[in-house]
Amino acid sequence: MKVLVATEKPFAKVAVDGIREVVEGAGYELALLEKYSDKAQLLEAVADADALIIRSDKVDAEVLDAAAKLKIVVRAGAGYDNIDLEAATAHKVVAMNTPGQNSNAVAELALGLMVYAVRNFYNGTSGTELLGKRLGIHAFGNVGRNVARIAKGFGMEVSAYDAYCPDEAMVAAGVTPVHSANELYETCDIVSLHIPATPETIKSIDYALLNRMPKGAILVNTARKEVMNEEDLIRLMNDRADFKYVTDIMPVADAQMRAFEGRYFATPKKMGAQTAEANINAGIAAANQIVDFFKNGNTRFQVNK
Ligand code: 3PG
Repeated sequence: MKVLVATEKPFAKVAVDGIREVVEGAGYELALLEKYSDKAQLLEAVADADALIIRSDKVDAEVLDAAAKLKIVVRAGAGYDNIDLEAATAHKVVAMNTPGQNSNAVAELALGLMVYAVRNFYNGTSGTELLGKRLGIHAFGNVGRNVARIAKGFGMEVSAYDAYCPDEAMVAAGVTPVHSANELYETCDIVSLHIPATPETIKSIDYALLNRMPKGAILVNTARKEVMNEEDLIRLMNDRADFKYVTDIMPVADAQMRAFEGRYFATPKKMGAQTAEANINAGIAAANQIVDFFKNGNTRFQVNK
C-alpha cells in the first residue's frame, strides 16, 4: 500500500516525519512529491499510489485518470474546492478533508493582517487600534470561531453572519449574531471572510455588499480569492479612498490592485495554514484518516458522499 504526499507547498519537516511515522507504523509505504512545478510530475507520481495526501493541490479528472490504484484522497486542511468531487466519485475514490486542524493558524494570520492594516502597513504613520473596533465574521465555522476568540482578547466587538449556524452557538461564544450579510457589512469596521468557495459564494463579495461598509473599512480575506468579485473590488477601491483590502490569497488582478498603494496587501504565497503546528495537526490527521479508512472502513470525514 503506497501513500503519496503531494504538496506543491510542502509541510514543515516535523509534520512529514509525523506522517511517515503513522504511515510506516501501519505497514504502508510513504512517497513524497514536494514543490513540484509541473502537473506532469503529479500525474507520474500518482500512478501507483493507493492513497493521496494533498493541500491546495488540484485533483481533477486528469489526475484521477492517471491514478489507477487510488482509493482515497485526503485534503490536509479545510477547503476542498481543489478536488473535483464528482470525478472522484466517478472514479470510486473517497475524498476527505481534515476540518478544524489548521483553523487556529489561519485565524492568527487573519488577526495579524488586521493589525498590519490598522497600523498602515508599518509605514511610520499613525494608525489606529483594534480595541473597540467592530469586527464582522463572515461564516462562523472553525476559523471564524478562532478569529472570534482571539479578537475578543483584543477587545473587539465581534458579530457574525452564518446562514448555517444557529444563533445560540454564536451567543455561547460571546458573539452577536446578525441575520444577513448586508447587516454584517453595514455594521462592522472590519470584516473577516471565512466562507468556502462554492457555486453559491463564488464572486459573491461584490461592490454592493462592500460599499455598505462604513468609512475607513477593512476587508480581510484568508478564505479564497474566488469568493471576491475582483472587478467590483477594483471599482470600489477606485471609488473609495478609505477602503483597505488585505488578503492571504493573491488576487488574479494583483497587478491592478498594486495601484492602491497603502490600501492593499497580499501575501506572496498563501500562508494561513503554514505553521508547524497546523502542518502537524492536518498532515497527521490526514495520515490517520487514511489508515483508519483502510483498516476499519471509517469514512467519517468523507466529503463526496
Ligand atoms: C485550507 O483550506 O485548509 C486552507 O486554505 C489552507 O490551505 P493550504 O494547505 O494550501 O495552505
